[in-house]
This record gives sequence, structure tokens and C-alpha cells, in this order.
Amino acid sequence: MADATVTVHSEAVVGHINPEFHGHFSEHLGRCVYEGLWHSDSADEDGYREDVLELIKDLDIPVLRWPGGCFADDYHWEDGVGPQEDRPRRRNLFWAQGPEEVPEESNAFGTDEFLQFCEAVGTEPYLAANVGSGDPQEAADWVEYCNYDGDTELADRRRENGHDDPYEVKYWGLGNENWGCGGRMSPEQYAREYRRFATYVGTQSGLMFEHDLELIACGFEHHEWNRRFLEEIADSSWGPEFPLDHLTLHHYYGQTMTVSESDEDDYDTFLADALETDGHIEAIAGAIDAIATTRDIGVIVDEWGAWHPEAVSENGLEQPGTVLDALSAAAVLDIFNDHSDVVTMSNIAQTINVLQCLVETDEDEAWARPTYHVFDSYAPHKGNDAIQTSVSTPTRDVEDDRELPLVQGSASTDGDETFISLTNLDCREEQTVAVTVEGTTPDAVEATLLFGDHEPSATVTPDNAAEFEPEATDVDVDGNTISVDLPPATVATLTLS
Ligand code: AHR
Repeated sequence: MADATVTVHSEAVVGHINPEFHGHFSEHLGRCVYEGLWHSDSADEDGYREDVLELIKDLDIPVLRWPGGCFADDYHWEDGVGPQEDRPRRRNLFWAQGPEEVPEESNAFGTDEFLQFCEAVGTEPYLAANVGSGDPQEAADWVEYCNYDGDTELADRRRENGHDDPYEVKYWGLGNENWGCGGRMSPEQYAREYRRFATYVGTQSGLMFEHDLELIACGFEHHEWNRRFLEEIADSSWGPEFPLDHLTLHHYYGQTMTVSESDEDDYDTFLADALETDGHIEAIAGAIDAIATTRDIGVIVDEWGAWHPEAVSENGLEQPGTVLDALSAAAVLDIFNDHSDVVTMSNIAQTINVLQCLVETDEDEAWARPTYHVFDSYAPHKGNDAIQTSVSTPTRDVEDDRELPLVQGSASTDGDETFISLTNLDCREEQTVAVTVEGTTPDAVEATLLFGDHEPSATVTPDNAAEFEPEATDVDVDGNTISVDLPPATVATLTLS
């Protein structure tokens, strides 16, 4: 007898799962860029860490947001181009850097280093321009430096710095958390700034650059702020064709759960907090629908993940990498699949060493965290059509009158095969899940399981990292119903052909 059932409504397509749902975010913060991506004993001749490069290439990450975060609105891109020895050393207003946790920025890793890293790993760059302390000219110049193929000083400067061809950077964020570290602006003030910046950065995109740019405004988890921002942006004096392609929100969870001192009740609360991503996406999409009726504006969740009390500025926002965090990532990726009609991208915070990173390093080696394996297991969904699922699951009461659904799932198809992800968010009990796929009987079902041998609190180290890889698991197939036993705190992937 199943504890939970999942019905896959094969004919009901929700939307397209952009590969960009599996995007990343890397900031000049602690050991993310310096010591993470860039420079160490294992660096290649260009300065990139080969061990990190390999892990990231294998993950096939579709898009990488840089240089911040709060750092973006404190960053002047011209500091980071040209000969390394001429680049100025600056304060990093928000974050400590590197192994000695110095709140200074060497500018050794700049635009060309970042964009060539993206080329090396085959990922689309997403640059966040400085709105808080910068000006529209600086942002427009950055676009020109990166993307222009004509005969101007900035295009020539890029060529002198070693890149003849334009980089064709498509995604441009205008500011970061401008309600907070990006200038403490009111929504109306940010909307006015956004319009100024978008005018100079975006208006000529189709004329001047070979490809159109996609412009991204930074929203907020407070949806009244988003509503007021959109109202001001959509003001009739501006006309309907305002250059805004995506509106973002950030969702961190876990600040009340110290990893080393938590129990199962804390795990439930943590997971319920992660699932609130769902309501935030619905709220921001609702605000877009209500106000920006004449245009498609996508929702990007361009910072998300676990942020525990262990991660503080003084340690470069580092925290242990646990199975529990990885479970939350699986549940959030399901939410993105289920909202593929409105979500256009997401960027987990942050790729390496910081917060819910996927890759951790020390001086000698780099290794995958459990969250890395969740992304890898969900990779078959990328580029597919998301299919609607109905999940009937036991729940548990958690604080603030909330209910934690214990089983989560999502499904997609590439036209030939169907992929189903299932997560047992119950950290105490096994859950048997019966999946029924409407209208089709599979010829074959392959299933893998993550974390079957681990407690939710299990933490990855360089010595045990290989133990978190997925293993094949058994399923019972009866016509179009597949039953699978999910031990506590596990993630399963079914492939039906
Ligand atoms: O990811 C760490 C910080 O969290 C980012 O700099 C900021 O945007 C957010 O508050």
C-alpha cells in the first residue's frame, strides 16, 4: 500500500524547462572566485582551477551570474580589464575575500577572466551592472566593451585585451537588491533608475549588437515592493514597450537552523521554508500579470538556497554541505519545473565554497557536495516540456501553522522518454510512492536513488564525497503504475522509455 501517490498527466504540458533553471551565481565573496574559480596550486596557465573546471563542465551549467550580489553595485568593471599589474586594488565594501579574509578586491579576476571562464565551461554569462553606485554610461560602456564589433575605443580595448570577437553577452541585470545593499531605494526610485539604465543599455540592442539583450530588474520577496516597482515602470508616459525582460527575486532559507545543533523538527521547518519559494513565484508572477499585461516578463530566482547561521561575513559565508540542504534543492527544482510557464531562469547561491555551493575546495582538491548530485540527477529535465503532476502525500505540521508535504515530485518529457523526480522530505520515515503515468505504459523503467545510506545531517568532506553519488534502485512496475520505496531524506529519479 502506497503512502503517497503521484499522477503524471502526460497530456498536460505546463511549460518549457529552460536549461537556465539550473543556473548559478558566483560573487566576489570569500573563497568563491578567489581560491574557488581562480588561482590555487591546481590552476592552469590561464589561472583557472582545473579541478573546479572539470566538475563544472561535467555539470553542464547553462548560465552563470557575476560579479554579485551586493558586490555588483560596488563594482566598476573598468578596474578589472587590461594588464593585471595595472589594475587597482579596491575595498570590497560588503565581503571579505580570499584565504586571509581581506575585505579588499585585487581585480585580478575581471570581465575577460570571467567571460573566458564561461567560454571554457560552455555557460552563458549573466552580468549584473552597477546601478547603486554606478551610472548608466558605465553600464552602457560595459555592454559595448563586451558585445560591440565596430570601430570604437571600447571594442578595440577588448581586442587588445585578447578577445577579437564580441562575447555576445545576452543577459544584463541592472542592479542587485536595490531595496537593500544596492542603494536602499524605494520601488519608485529603483523603477526610475532602472528606466534610465535600461534606456542606455538596452535601447539600441537590436541595432548595435548582433543579438538582442535581455534586461533584468532585481525584485524583492516583499511583493508590495514589486507591485509598486512594476506600476512605476509601466507608467503610461513610458509606453507599453518598456525594456524589461525578467524580474527577479531572491529566496534564502535556513537562517533559524544551525546545522550542528538541529533536530528533526528543525529539519521540517527548514524544508517548509524552502517550499515557500512556490508562493513567492506565484506572487511575483501575479504582480507581473496584473500590471504588465502587454508584455511577457519572465520570473528569475537569481539567488536561492540554504543560508544557515554558520555562514557569516567573517568566514566568507561558508557553511557545511549536508544532505538536508540537497533535499531542499530537489524540492525547489521541482517547484521551478511546476512553474515553467513563468520561470525563465534560476541561479543557486553560490557555485563554489559560499552558502549552498555545489563544489567545495581546499588548496589541493575540489569535490562535489550532495547538492551537486541533485542538480546532476535533475539534469535530464533540462530543455524538456514540464508535465503537470498531482501529488497526494502525507503531511506533517510545522511551526507557524504550516504543513510540510512529505513527498514532492515533478515530471517532464523530451518527446521520447519521461523523467520523474521524487523527493522524500520526511527525515524520519520511509515513504512508498506509487506513480501513475496517464495514457502510457512504459517499456522500461530505470531508477536511481540519492542519499539512501546517509542521515539528513550527513556532511560532505573530501574523503567521503564519492559516497553521495546516486545508486540504482528497484521499482515495481504494474502496467502504468510504478512503485518505489523512498528511505527517509532521499531523492529518486525515474526514467521511463
Ligand atoms: O549571496 C550573498 C548575498 O545575499 C548577496 O550578495 C546579496 O545579493 C544577498 O543578500
